[in-house]
Amino acid sequence: MTAPLDHAAPRREATVRRDAEALQVRVRRGSAFQAYAVARRANQTVLDVVTEIQREQDPTLAYRFACRVGMCGSCGMTVNGRPRWTCRTRVAAVAEEGVLTLEPLRNLPVVKDLAVDMEPFFEKWRRAHGYFEPGEAPPEDFAAVLPDSGPRREADAGIECINCGVCYAACDVVSWNPDYLGPAALNRAWTLVNDVRDQGQAARLDAVAGDAGCHSCHSHMSCTEHCPKALAPTFAIAGLKRATGKAALRRLWRKP
Ligand code: SF4
Ligand code: SF4
Ligand code: FES
Repeated sequence: MTAPLDHAAPRREATVRRDAEALQVRVRRGSAFQAYAVARRANQTVLDVVTEIQREQDPTLAYRFACRVGMCGSCGMTVNGRPRWTCRTRVAAVAEEGVLTLEPLRNLPVVKDLAVDMEPFFEKWRRAHGYFEPGEAPPEDFAAVLPDSGPRREADAGIECINCGVCYAACDVVSWNPDYLGPAALNRAWTLVNDVRDQGQAARLDAVAGDAGCHSCHSHMSCTEHCPKALAPTFAIAGLKRATGKAALRRLWRKP
């Protein structure tokens, strides 16, 4: 007697083959990981994967994004152990084994799942005087700083920061000392120190010279290695170390 035909077999086989080809995704949700399988697609980004999970498998998954084109800085996550912007990170470049482990950015409180609270990060920008100070009587007309002038080139070096927090998550000194201002706030302060129009330099240099400021940086370059905009906060911080040192010497010389 011949065995009855199993008409479902080809469909089951196809399902198994698709699962084997699928991307295996592990997402940290609180203290545990949750597993998902997501179809692999050409040019798929990590953010595409998270969005597909949330829209098609699990609407309770929390994460953050806005622009999807590398401008807003809101999509940072830890991807297979490294902090990254996820809208510009292709799955093919980071999940060669077909496994993607996603966690929230380090060094920031978790709101839910992959979304972190950026408030402590921006509070440090305020503490570092990372905002333009026009002075008591700013000129009414626009100040002209020529694009190819030395001062403009100095200010340009770190100006393209998108506040993504990737460098902040990559910095071990922030982990050891949560008070440390961190690479992004210090990079911003250095950009403003180089802004010839700014009138708040003395207070800014004071703000970044304290115990939790630029002199706490160990110069181990992790921020610079991870910055998706190829900025170099380490060199900005080195600039602040020189500038705060010079300001301290000037104060000493002025003393009677
Ligand atoms: S260079 Fe300084 S700011 Fe950058 S990661 Fe290292 S300690 Fe942190
Ligand atoms: S310095 Fe780079 S990594 Fe840090 S917040 Fe700005 S863009 Fe993001
Ligand atoms: S979503 Fe805006 S930078 Fe990634």
